[in-house]
Amino acid sequence: MPFATEIRPVPGPLIDSAADLLALPVAAGSSDQPAAVASAAGAVPADLAARLPGPLPDLIAHYEFAGRPGETVEFPVDLGRGLVRFALVGVGDLGARDLRRAGAAFARSARGRERAAIALPAGGAAGSGAGDEALTAFVEGALLAGYTFSLAAEPKRPRPVPLVELVADDPGRHEAAVARGRILAGATALARDLINTPSAEKDPAWLAARAEEVAGAAGLAVEVWDEADLERDGFGAILAVGGGSARPPRLVRVEYRPENPERHVVLVGKGITFDTGGLSLKPNDNMKLMKTDMSGAAVVLGVLSALAELGSPVRVTGLLAIAENAFSGGAQRPGDVITTFGGRTVEVLNTDAEGRLVLADAMDYAVAELAPDVIVDVATLTGAAKLALGTGIGALFGTDDELVARLVAAGERSGEALWRMPLVEEYRATLRSRVADLANIGTSADFGRPGATEAALFLREFTGGVPWAHLDIAGPGRSMAESAELTKGGTGFGTRLLLRWLTE
Ligand code: BES
Ligand code: MN
Ligand code: ZN
Repeated sequence: MPFATEIRPVPGPLIDSAADLLALPVAAGSSDQPAAVASAAGAVPADLAARLPGPLPDLIAHYEFAGRPGETVEFPVDLGRGLVRFALVGVGDLGARDLRRAGAAFARSARGRERAAIALPAGGAAGSGAGDEALTAFVEGALLAGYTFSLAAEPKRPRPVPLVELVADDPGRHEAAVARGRILAGATALARDLINTPSAEKDPAWLAARAEEVAGAAGLAVEVWDEADLERDGFGAILAVGGGSARPPRLVRVEYRPENPERHVVLVGKGITFDTGGLSLKPNDNMKLMKTDMSGAAVVLGVLSALAELGSPVRVTGLLAIAENAFSGGAQRPGDVITTFGGRTVEVLNTDAEGRLVLADAMDYAVAELAPDVIVDVATLTGAAKLALGTGIGALFGTDDELVARLVAAGERSGEALWRMPLVEEYRATLRSRVADLANIGTSADFGRPGATEAALFLREFTGGVPWAHLDIAGPGRSMAESAELTKGGTGFGTRLLLRWLTE
């Protein structure tokens, strides 16, 4: 669902806006007194000041308003055309991180309004790098907090505001930063829509068809393997995982190719359209959220959708490994041995460790056919990663220190925190199989149950020595709360950090 909110820079003054919610950003003060940041010039215009119920410093003191990012207070103001709502919006230190929260809080305050206007809260000098990045973050926060996904016949809560005006002295200078925020948020919303779609509708063919649509709209080459193609080309793992479903698996390749690319990055996404666990069946409590188990594929598709618009200099190929892990007489059995695209055999000791299997096939293909300089996979791979880090942080594994550092840095800029986890060499021994090259889960209890690390070590076997990073987003891929730019349900975590990494 495209954003219900349009956001655009407009010329001032704020008081002339026909909006029914007007807002002033308020920074956290260097001392105990916060300072209002009304415009690029920094002062509240006299005509507006005269209409407020009191001097701004008095209002700030009255409401004990500290200017914390995301803090808001509202009061009515008479602008001579009836009462309108007026808000103070805390913008903290004016950096990107704080402005993202401020944008989200502002969009939440604006729900149910017809039109909202805020004096431009850009940090740093207008048009400067820091200011632009902060404004981009504000737009991301505002649009993503207003994101909604509903299949209800009647909308249940105040709808997002249709129009947000960013009042600036020189609106034209801010168009690019706003557009960038809109593109980054739009890619994330695309991922969220796919993730939030129920699995009754979202089978592998459906997801592949959405990928073809997105690729078509973005002018990208796309290829889809159906079950016969997968059989012909030897994708034994994707076929084995998808074998239990009446709705057969797919592999999708989407390609973004700029002129004279710097390097070739392959992004691999786990696309399990529903994870019952297979014959190693999940209990209902663990199963009920598993429509989100294709988040990795959704994030990869979201990234691909925006690379051309953002002008990435990197060639990027996305591989979506798509299957439904279902429970039936056709399902693979614990103890089966499957053969991946590259010819290695895997003993499947637990059919619920299916993500690493479909990813292995896709990574084998990338190494054999695509000559990548870097491979990054994104997957809701293990409950262990969620247990270790919670829902706020993604688990990052990797074989290349510089790649890992760049991804962590991109996550800091995008507000998607990553924490590097160790690929403990000793634990590699737990993946030994008696009958095959590898087992899909740890076979020894010698080291406890290092679930996220075992999964990562398994994947490393399929990197062919290519620098590789693995984002386990089982925790942050889904939000249980409305918080800052997050809305309940799929988050699209990773989309914005990967886009920053590929375009900055
Ligand atoms: N899709 C799950 C992981 C998951 C758990 C994602 C919770 C999001 C929230 C994955 O396929 C899975 O079932 N992993 C198992 C692996 C185990 C059988 C080795 C797990 O983590 O329990
Ligand atoms: Mn599973
Ligand atoms: Zn899964």
